[in-house]
Amino acid sequence: MSHRGITLPADSRLTRNDFVFGVATSSFQIEGAAEQRLPCIWDSFCRQPGAIKDGSDGLVACDHVNRWREDLELIDSLGVDAYRFSVSWPRVINEDGSIRQQGMDFYQRLVDALLEKGLQPFVTLYHWDLPQYLADKGGWLNRDTAYRFQDYADMFSRTLGERVHSYATLNEPYCSAYLGYELGIHAPGMKKRAFALQAAHHLLLAHGLGMQVLQQNAPKALNGIVINLSPCHSATDRAEDVQAAKDADQYFNRWYLDPVLSGRYPELMQRLPAEDLPTMQDGDLKQIAQPLDFLGVNYYTRGVYYRGDSDYFSAVEPRYVPLTDMGWEIYPEGLTEILLDIHQRYRLPPVYITENGAALPEQIDNQKVLDSSRIDYFDRHLHALHEAIEKGVDVRGYFAWSLMDNFEWAEGYERRFGIVHVDFETQARTLKSSALAWRHMLQRRRAAN
Ligand code: NOJ
Repeated sequence: MSHRGITLPADSRLTRNDFVFGVATSSFQIEGAAEQRLPCIWDSFCRQPGAIKDGSDGLVACDHVNRWREDLELIDSLGVDAYRFSVSWPRVINEDGSIRQQGMDFYQRLVDALLEKGLQPFVTLYHWDLPQYLADKGGWLNRDTAYRFQDYADMFSRTLGERVHSYATLNEPYCSAYLGYELGIHAPGMKKRAFALQAAHHLLLAHGLGMQVLQQNAPKALNGIVINLSPCHSATDRAEDVQAAKDADQYFNRWYLDPVLSGRYPELMQRLPAEDLPTMQDGDLKQIAQPLDFLGVNYYTRGVYYRGDSDYFSAVEPRYVPLTDMGWEIYPEGLTEILLDIHQRYRLPPVYITENGAALPEQIDNQKVLDSSRIDYFDRHLHALHEAIEKGVDVRGYFAWSLMDNFEWAEGYERRFGIVHVDFETQARTLKSSALAWRHMLQRRRAAN
């Protein structure tokens, strides 16, 4: 394993001052202060026995709502250009549509303080914490939720306007739809393909409706969507496995990219049984395919597939390859591959890597948190990103997931993605060696410019 720190290839776009480096978080995962907001679907999901591995919840999390000033100092001390965070919908809007002022004040203060420090606020409007009052009416299975999202996006972007550098409508709609409505391992915990595809359609519609109000209210902001992508490889050369990998790519990646960037669903849709297909209305795809100012790409790993007996594709459990604590293969070259792939397939807007990072083991030694494997992870992924840029992909920014250890959804607090360590007993924050490596990398970049 290398201990050379995080290096940037010489003469790379990554070394330029206008390439955006940032750190990312999301509301439910860090905020806590649940008593100051309305309940969301993740509160309910956490109460289902067995849903969260360590039986935890997001009621306190990193207590960020009470400690945001300290956290902001931490972000600033890293020397990054930008901070990506999300807004908790049930913190800012009541069931009757009225504004929750205390919640809005929190985000306004945060954005103002970021700007004062010269940090660019990258806001995600929906990072999975759907208000429970909407879930009670069907959640993403109910078409009306998309219109409620538009109202929320409208209110928020009218209030914050262009003080927000960048708005993303949704974070990883695949997770909301597939993990939440088909596998049932995320909130709301439903388990049916037809539900997932209906939820996906309404999420995509919400994105399209949301984009329209963002472009009106904040035309100079960078407005777009964040989608998670993984290359889908086939386990063998057999024709049916090659097809399985193509189908998985259509189902996991292109199901979201194609409607947003090309105004259609992938061809796989025509092969799925009618009872799995979503109800749509004429003109929906047109609403969805709004021009984007940027595409956010979250990258973690690849998938390997074969044609099983029961479905179009089945995933191979990674073995004999380097894995993170999530069991995900460490596969930096997949970042180059997926970027080149979408560059060839679509007319892309500028791309930002809105998340990349890993849950990895670390050692605590004399108050130091040592995570050299995370340093190595970032280093290798930044080199992979450089490759894609060299080959012509217009990538303008890169965000580490995550600023600090936080509530890792169904995994609870046991999987740590932070470059800052959080002691959940005391809420003490400690920079890990990866945070120091980030800081050093950014200092070197500044000195060179
Ligand atoms: C993507 C999600 O956006 C984020 O919430 C999550 O913590 C990371 N992946 C790691 O699983």
